[in-house]
Order: sequence, then structure tokens, then C-alpha cells
Amino acid sequence: MDKFEGRLTRDGIRIHNPSDFAGMHKAGALAARILDDIAGMVEPGQTTEAIDAEIERMVNDAGAKSATIGYKGYQHASCISVNHVVCHGIPGPKTLKNGDILNIDVTVIVDGWFGDTSRMYVAGSLSRKAERLVQVTHDALFKGIEAVKPGNTFGDIGHAIQAYVEAHRMSVVRDFCGHGLGQVFHAPPNVLHYGRPGTGPTLEEGMFFTIEPMVNLGRPETKVLADDWTAVTRDKSLSAQFEHSIGVTADGFDIFTLSPGGKFHPTWA
Ligand code: MF3
Ligand code: CO
Ligand code: CO
Repeated sequence: MDKFEGRLTRDGIRIHNPSDFAGMHKAGALAARILDDIAGMVEPGQTTEAIDAEIERMVNDAGAKSATIGYKGYQHASCISVNHVVCHGIPGPKTLKNGDILNIDVTVIVDGWFGDTSRMYVAGSLSRKAERLVQVTHDALFKGIEAVKPGNTFGDIGHAIQAYVEAHRMSVVRDFCGHGLGQVFHAPPNVLHYGRPGTGPTLEEGMFFTIEPMVNLGRPETKVLADDWTAVTRDKSLSAQFEHSIGVTADGFDIFTLSPGGKFHPTWA
């Protein structure tokens, strides 16, 4: 038996086997490839339900499973969160209009492993204020990822994200967080996108989790609409989010959901 097998930390965080990284890379690569391939469909006049239907088809064509269909009653292969929707937007018949920004979040299961990633898109042209929000949110995710190495804490990740976002006079959503994952969708720990250095569980090689900061141009408060899923900013300000699934290595991090086409950001390729 491998030294990592089956171990949970005292915080209930699973320490995975070195061979488990391959399973996560396969699942993560599929989720990321789907987000690459859907980019061409994001245009003014398109509906979010048509985008979701195409994502569901791509998941099935790959012989994979959607982790979100049937999850707590959710019915779709993606969450599509437009403009002031913070997360968990439900695909529907509304058409995108020029300048809308949207997050598309896909989670797939491949050979039992979960790949969870989301990124921002724009329908048509990006306004200056939306571009600034998207850039700061993207860079905040990477500030968090750069804090991932054994011996650092989850508070170090949250602090790096919060400090960066607030330095740009934007706000970090507190009501939703990243999560452990692996052979399950959501596991300990809660990965907060704010916090204090040196607090929270200590990172160890073999931990797998997401970092998925949501950033608002206005206030951080959110509310969930009557559909029980759609989270919006209370002040109706624009919101953005990027998400990667990552693993802790001996000396840093391994990103499972890198874009194969280098299209993680809406202004790239
Ligand atoms: N993929 C989302 C996350 O990042 C979870 C979506 S759950 C759903 O954790 F049911 F809303 F799809
Ligand atoms: Co997630
Ligand atoms: Co997600």
C-alpha cells in the first residue's frame, strides 16, 4: 500500500496517492477542453440553454458524465452566470446581448474523478469596466494558486486573493467558496477566498481542491433567487469568477484544468 492511500488529515482533508494525479488530469483536461470548444458559441443572440445543450452533448460524446445533472436536483450540464449573476446561473431561453459577460462552469466525471473549472466569456465586445473586473478576477485566482505549496495554509490562499482584489477596490464574495474534490464533487475543506495569513488547515502534498474566487465591482453581498440556485449581487453590480481544480505537489501546485488551447481568458486566442 502506498504511503498516501486512504489518509485523511485531522481536518478531514483527503491526502491522495501520487497515481491519483493522473485521474484528475484526465477529468480536468476534458472539462477544460469543453470550455475551450464552447467559446465559439458565445455570441449576441445565443441562448444560454443552447450553450448548455452543446456542453451536455460534448460530455456525452467524450464518454464522460456530468457531475451537475442530478446534483441536489440541478438539471443542467453547466452553470451559466451572466453579468450580475455571481454563480449557479441556470441555463435558459434568454438571449445574450452585446457586451454581456458570463461565467460558464462545467464539472465532469471521468473514471470516477471530478474535473471542475469555470471561466469568463464575453458576447461581442468587452466594455472597459467589465474588462477590468475580468482581469482582476483572473489574476486574483492566480495569486491564490501561487500561494499553494506544502506548509502554507488555506488562510494564505484566501488572504492573497482578498488583498489583491481589495487593492483594486473590488470585493470578494464571502457566501460561496472553493472545495476539496477528487472522487467526490465537494469535500473538505471549504476554500475561502478571503482570510488571514497563517490561519486554517496546513497544505500537504496530495490534497486536491478548487480555487474559484467570485469578485464583484460593487459590494460583496449576494442573494439567491426564488429558483433556489441563481445567486446575484444584492446591489446588481457586475460579478466575475474563474475556477481551477488543483493538486498540491512536493514543492507547489499542479493545475488539472489548464486550457489545452490557451483560451482560459476571454481576450486570449
Ligand atoms: N461547479 C460548481 C462548483 O464550482 C458547482 C455547481 S453545482 C450545480 O462547485 F448544481 F449548481 F451545478
Ligand atoms: Co467548484
Ligand atoms: Co465549478
